[in-house]
Amino acid sequence: ACLMASPALVADCIDAMKQAVDIPVTVKTRIGIDEQDSYQFLLDFVGPIAEKGCRTFIIHARKAWLNGLSPAENRTIPPLKWETAYRLKQDFPQLEIILNGGIKTTAQINDALQHLDGVMVGREAYQNPYFLAQVERDVFGTTDVRSRHGVVDALMPYVEKNLQNGTPLKDISRHILGLFQGMGGARRWRQILSSEAYKPAAGMDVIRAALAAVDDGGS
Ligand SMILES: Cc1cc2nc3c(=O)[nH]c(=O)nc-3n(C[C@H](O)[C@H](O)[C@H](O)COP(=O)(O)O)c2cc1C
Repeated sequence: ACLMASPALVADCIDAMKQAVDIPVTVKTRIGIDEQDSYQFLLDFVGPIAEKGCRTFIIHARKAWLNGLSPAENRTIPPLKWETAYRLKQDFPQLEIILNGGIKTTAQINDALQHLDGVMVGREAYQNPYFLAQVERDVFGTTDVRSRHGVVDALMPYVEKNLQNGTPLKDISRHILGLFQGMGGARRWRQILSSEAYKPAAGMDVIRAALAAVDDGGS
């Protein structure tokens, strides 16, 4: 985030990167740093970079305090200002502006998409991965999304293949600990996976046992 104080340097870096690669070069930024949190400060950052041909900006719509807050605190304490990203899209309609920060519902996504080009979801996708299925249904309009149990069934061949290759079960299971968030038995699912999957010989049975402990709620 400290690079927000050096827009000319960032613009030069983006220019050099664009010349070196043939994939899009994008910029992800906060909306301000420390006391420098005016809208003009953000404009002065985005403007020179856009002039170098960067088309896509992902806006984590809160400022960062460079001193005094940990990285984790800097993801929760500075207030979210989604409207700043909306305003940026109005001022740079030719740019692709993507909103990031605190998005937890598909209604929020659909609302944001009225104002700008896309959203980036971080923690919600990790803590509650079934959110991505809800996005598939509510944002992309897919009607036949898998149930949570269906997701695990579909994951099983991948688990089997990777166990055979020597990957410890915990390296896979840790990413699905939150899959049943909000459903009956979610705690048990999490408990079984987080205790049993860490044992050296842990195999597919651990996932099957955890799966047997949770309702699918018909979803
Ligand atoms: C564990 C963790 C690591 C992160 N590392 C980075 C990083 O290296 N670069 C970055 O731009 N953002 C990083 N972020 C921030 C996220 O990309 C995102 O901007 C932030 O979490 C806000 O979005 P969210 O509320 O949807 O999670 C990280 C977030 C978390 C939780």
